[in-house]
Amino acid sequence: MCSPARELKFPHRHLLGIEGLSPVDIAILLDLSEAAIEVSRQVEKKRSTLRGRTLINLFFEASTRTQSSFELAGKRLGADVMNMSVATSSVKKGETLIDTAMTLNAMRPDIIVVRHAQAGAVHLLAKKVDCSVVNAGDGAHEHPTQALLDALTIRRNKGAISGLVVAICGDILHSRVARSNILLLSALGARVRAVGPSTLLPAGIERMGVEVFRDMQAGLEGADIVMMLRLQRERMQGGFIPSPREYFRFFGLDEAKLKLAKPDALVMHPGPMNRGVEIDSSVADGSQSRIREQVEMGVAVRMAVLEALAQHLPNG
Ligand code: CP
Repeated sequence: MCSPARELKFPHRHLLGIEGLSPVDIAILLDLSEAAIEVSRQVEKKRSTLRGRTLINLFFEASTRTQSSFELAGKRLGADVMNMSVATSSVKKGETLIDTAMTLNAMRPDIIVVRHAQAGAVHLLAKKVDCSVVNAGDGAHEHPTQALLDALTIRRNKGAISGLVVAICGDILHSRVARSNILLLSALGARVRAVGPSTLLPAGIERMGVEVFRDMQAGLEGADIVMMLRLQRERMQGGFIPSPREYFRFFGLDEAKLKLAKPDALVMHPGPMNRGVEIDSSVADGSQSRIREQVEMGVAVRMAVLEALAQHLPNG
């Protein structure tokens, strides 16, 4: 891949979160992603950036998009990719995260991509291994590559991110996607709104610099981007919503609510979607939706991240 951003060195050995990245770091990754899109749209997609390198996908939680796009990204850059099957691993026999990490580390991987249900688990693992580590989502903490692919999608559709009004709607309390997006979009100058019922808004969310709306109609008014979030029922203990039907009535995105946003507003969703719970199919599949484009951008962003981290590998 080649782009002007290649001239700038990404200064981090790991990608553990958007927190700690400067706007220049983010721009380097987005510019590298543009070059990766070109590669992915060609018949011949194979590059040699990571030839001879080993990438391990270590996913302790389910994933479709993130795991498969890291696998494709690694393979397109020439790496040997191993998808560690946690369900059939010694984790099931009681092995700890650190023992698993140290075992894999002894096999001399170059990059480990980790998803874990506990916030902070990926940071802990990064301290124990010799290779680069990428956070593919840790609990409700961060999901940096999702925020990067969202920013790339927005930048390509709107030309720039600064000054845009982005309404992030739904289950913000349990969402690592929301947290990473708030950090990234704010760093690039967007006006970010957090829209949801009181029960699904974290205490003190205002301190992240967002405008808070407990009424969805008000939160959508004049928005350039409507980013819907999945209701994360697997992280909920207790009654956060009266019922999915009631939730959809007040906080589900349908055509009537979307009309409150700007006429050219984009609809986004990180997936997986719960149709009829947080988003209506007519909107998810409608002309303003960029949900499938987000998936394509996911491969490009992950190629960019791997390429940026490769600069720090021995002989990189
Ligand atoms: N957006 C996202 O993280 O999707 P997966 O859980 O399918 O990876």
